Amino acid sequence: MSQDLPTILVTGGAGYIGSHTVLALKRAGYEIVILDNLVYGHRDLVEEVLKVELVVGDTSDRELLDKLFQTRQFAAVMHFSAFAYVGESVTDPAKYYRNNVVGTLVLLEAMLAASVKNFVFSSTCATYGVPSVVPIPEDHPQNPINPYGASKLMVERILEDFSAAYDLKSVRFRYFNAAGADPSGVLGEDHNPETHLIPLVLQTALGQRDSISVFGTDYPTPDGTCVRDYIHVNDLADAHVLGLEYLLKGGDSAVFNLGNGSGFSVKEVIETAKQVTGREIPIKECERRAGDPPSLIGSGEKARSILGWNPQYFEIKDIITHAWKWHQVRHRD
Ligand SMILES: NC(=O)c1ccc[n+]([C@@H]2O[C@H](COP(=O)([O-])OP(=O)(O)OC[C@H]3O[C@@H](n4cnc5c(N)ncnc54)[C@H](O)[C@@H]3O)[C@@H](O)[C@H]2O)c1
Repeated sequence: MSQDLPTILVTGGAGYIGSHTVLALKRAGYEIVILDNLVYGHRDLVEEVLKVELVVGDTSDRELLDKLFQTRQFAAVMHFSAFAYVGESVTDPAKYYRNNVVGTLVLLEAMLAASVKNFVFSSTCATYGVPSVVPIPEDHPQNPINPYGASKLMVERILEDFSAAYDLKSVRFRYFNAAGADPSGVLGEDHNPETHLIPLVLQTALGQRDSISVFGTDYPTPDGTCVRDYIHVNDLADAHVLGLEYLLKGGDSAVFNLGNGSGFSVKEVIETAKQVTGREIPIKECERRAGDPPSLIGSGEKARSILGWNPQYFEIKDIITHAWKWHQVRHRD
């Protein structure tokens, strides 16, 4: 492990994708400080598994940020913290624009004041809205259909302008469906409330839910259920380390999709989960939900060719197997 790698500030590092990326950064030899307000993050994972410094605070607390940037020298900020419940963003958009946009702006201004000029940002395929082609390339028009996606697109726009005006370089990653867990079983997906398909299916397998709802069985897809691109969280984490290295080597601001380029239907996910867990998973067929495109698949070609990203997990079975290991440890039945 190198002694010389710089320190990285990771906002939202006590959450799902942030914690896996902290583990990847640690394995690569970086020093890490996590900033997380613990609204959704897990202190126990930081203290017992990641064992890195945790600053409990909010990205909109300028005073705290100024102190942090004065006392520590950061080579870059990785910004995972945000609210990410699409449905809630529709009923309470102010909460999303305040946290995801204003909170990010305060952080960016504090970075500029401290001359920290490298930023890795968690954007989302939700910025594309309903795609006109799949797999979706990065230059596909961005027309988000909910305030969550709009809040992320606004930050993308801010980052473009800050890059041009203040030379603050950023890598913007548009993730597709993050899934799975570190194969060791020490970290995993633990949102509360949970809205993502794989953990909901596994909670059903554990008997914590009566059934899993399948929203729409008449989509123009092979089995009529929605198709999504599931990307293993460790592959996402690796991309972040590569994105960071790209910036630290002087790379220009850039945007990359992080997707596998292929998709699995809701029914395929449930069938695979039945095989992996060996348990019954009752399903409840429901009407389509408004705003769910039939198929969301992202092309990760640009990240492969420019960053040298080489995702390891393409099989939904591997992703579910790792998630199941974590669920059994975290939520013993
Ligand atoms: N999970 C996915 O499939 C997915 C897909 C696309 C994009 N994203 C984006 O990736 C990022 C991480 O997602 P996740 O699934 O790990 O979410 P998460 O909720 O598990 O993690 C977010 C963390 O940020 C913290 N946080 C929120 N607001 C904060 C603030 N103002 N100050 C400090 N900490 C704050 C929370 O406590 C939490 O620990 C988010 O920005 C999300 O929008 C996630």
